[in-house]
Amino acid sequence: MPDETPAFGGPMSDATDATIESVLQEQRVFAPQPGSGSDSRVPSLEAYRALAARAEADPDRFWGDLAREQLHWFEPFHTVLDWSNPPFARWFEGGTTNLSYNCLDRHLEGPRADRTALIWEGEPGDERRFTYRELHAEVCRAALALRALGVGKGDLVALYMPMVPEAAIAMLACARIGAPHSVVFGGFSSEALRDRLIDGEARLVITADGGYRKDTAVPLKPAVDAALADGSCPTVQHVLVVRRTGAAVTMAEGRDIWWDELVPQQSSDCPAEPMASEDLLFVLYTSGSTGKPKGVVHTTAGYNLWAHLTFQWIFDIRDDDIHWCTADVGWITGHSYIVYGPLSNGATTVMYEGAPRPGKPGAFWELIEKHRITILYTAPTAIRAFMKGGRTVPDSYDMSSLRLLGTVGEPINPEAWMWYREVIGGNRCPIVDTWWQTETGGVMISPLPAATPTKPGSATLPLPGIAADVVDHDGVSQPADQGGYLVVRRPWPGMMRTVHGDPERFRRSYWEEIRPADGSWIYFAGDGARRDADGYFWVMGRVDDVINVSGHRLGTMEIESALVSHPAVAEAAVVGRPDDLKGEGIVAFVTVESGRQGDDDLAADLRRHVGREIGPIARPDEIRFSDALPKTRSGKIMRRILRALAAGQQIQGDTSTLEDRSVLDQLRGES
Ligand code: WTA
Repeated sequence: MPDETPAFGGPMSDATDATIESVLQEQRVFAPQPGSGSDSRVPSLEAYRALAARAEADPDRFWGDLAREQLHWFEPFHTVLDWSNPPFARWFEGGTTNLSYNCLDRHLEGPRADRTALIWEGEPGDERRFTYRELHAEVCRAALALRALGVGKGDLVALYMPMVPEAAIAMLACARIGAPHSVVFGGFSSEALRDRLIDGEARLVITADGGYRKDTAVPLKPAVDAALADGSCPTVQHVLVVRRTGAAVTMAEGRDIWWDELVPQQSSDCPAEPMASEDLLFVLYTSGSTGKPKGVVHTTAGYNLWAHLTFQWIFDIRDDDIHWCTADVGWITGHSYIVYGPLSNGATTVMYEGAPRPGKPGAFWELIEKHRITILYTAPTAIRAFMKGGRTVPDSYDMSSLRLLGTVGEPINPEAWMWYREVIGGNRCPIVDTWWQTETGGVMISPLPAATPTKPGSATLPLPGIAADVVDHDGVSQPADQGGYLVVRRPWPGMMRTVHGDPERFRRSYWEEIRPADGSWIYFAGDGARRDADGYFWVMGRVDDVINVSGHRLGTMEIESALVSHPAVAEAAVVGRPDDLKGEGIVAFVTVESGRQGDDDLAADLRRHVGREIGPIARPDEIRFSDALPKTRSGKIMRRILRALAAGQQIQGDTSTLEDRSVLDQLRGES
């Protein structure tokens, strides 16, 4: 069995020594955006500190006031937070609201109705725009179409979609009628989709014939057909199919319906269903250190408030902003910062189907120039890839519209941060490095552009109301510059409520690792961090068996399970190794069944197999075969050793517990 306990001084110190070294030497400080001044939401460091102090002094009042001010309520709530049954929080009890209403209907009175809500740019160069009024009408039609297919309040709808406007429309339509959604990233395999459909007991799947990825039309519908084959998901009654690429698809009689044959004929008037604050809003699957992916549960009001507030604070949003978040809607970043955060604030959000590719290295910059984008929010991996390509391409575009840059998903190295600032931001735009997770609903630690001085590589300070800390195993706060676990000491509105169908796993995974002596409940995120003398957080990366490949979160156990499901594999252990471009790469150590050869052909076959089981993003970069894996005498795989081997480092620390030392030589390639 892989070691499941996050061992402090384990993964973190193995995998990120280089990062720690470079951030420890990082001394540069950049002032907040000059001149953004008094029209900013949080105009100065003093204003930030005052807000944080208010939240600290009376959290209930702080969150209660914001919830009343910032969201529309059909019925007011009577209790801000019920924390009587930790770790199960209940926020804004007694109230009813609707996320789709907050994102659409409330903008329809006044000039905002005719403002652009969504600009969509397709990969082949097609473009669609929706004003708030138009988006509202589309969402109403889609909501009524869902109802016509028998979907009601509480029925889970799965989305397996390319990046087309219908993905956002479908999400909002679900929220409108109180049907929780579960968006499954379109790059996942049919196997991964099936697991999620079964776990969520999905009633309906919304998909498309296909989507475009880097100049090619990729089919999607066949994966849905495969996931549903042999009656393996008996709860799924219908599949609603968006026509995108025009590829030929098989439509199952009585089960499958074309979007364009059902949705347009619906009425554009579908009142939003008042939802209780704690009604299930969506489930989003993410990888943990054990077992299969867990369904992270978010509920209506708390998530809405958190996506709304964080978007407003962090991007210091203004009326003329054009905001572009480059994530896919299949990830939490897409949920909170392509769809819900921007629309809840009445902003203009950009959605892009494509990606930069060899034939079009300037794709991002072209989009910024064309739409006069003001805020760019992307991942460090993308920045590192651009940096490698040099500045000639970005320099040939007019990006003077940009006023703010953001990063998300993985630690950003100071070099990439500086390049982003200089080359993309023209030394003019502040950078917000935002730390958060699927579980936290929205950003937790980030600079505020007009308030927080920034340091390259640091996510800086927690948002007001967020009691982030760096602690040891017993929950004791660590002194400045001492590494520890990144935790949150108090509930916040956007926190996940449970693991879908498995409350025990929720408690075990997030709340039991660190139990302070005073019995308080601390949320442990799975990351290691240190805080410097200014109280700035430097996130070091995961300390559990989760790896972060190009900002995508993958559980090593998931990949191991996929590998051992191949008939030639006896045993497998997967670790991450530092990768200049992707943050981490995937290395698999594999022992084969007797009579099988561990050779290049098998390695290629195993990579394909993992692609089929999970999706191409989970394919190992390297597969090493050996006769045995390094284990303790009690049979535990010594992952620390594998991580060092994968990174080509010296093996440090005690290896005396190793059962068979000759394994080491073999894994190093010395036998
Ligand atoms: C990592 C993505 C350093 C972290 C929003 C976390 C980061 C995991 C940052 C969550 C950042 C995210 N600096 N690390 N600014 N942002 N991470 O659930 O390890 O896909 O635990 O959510 O990404 O990944 P998830």
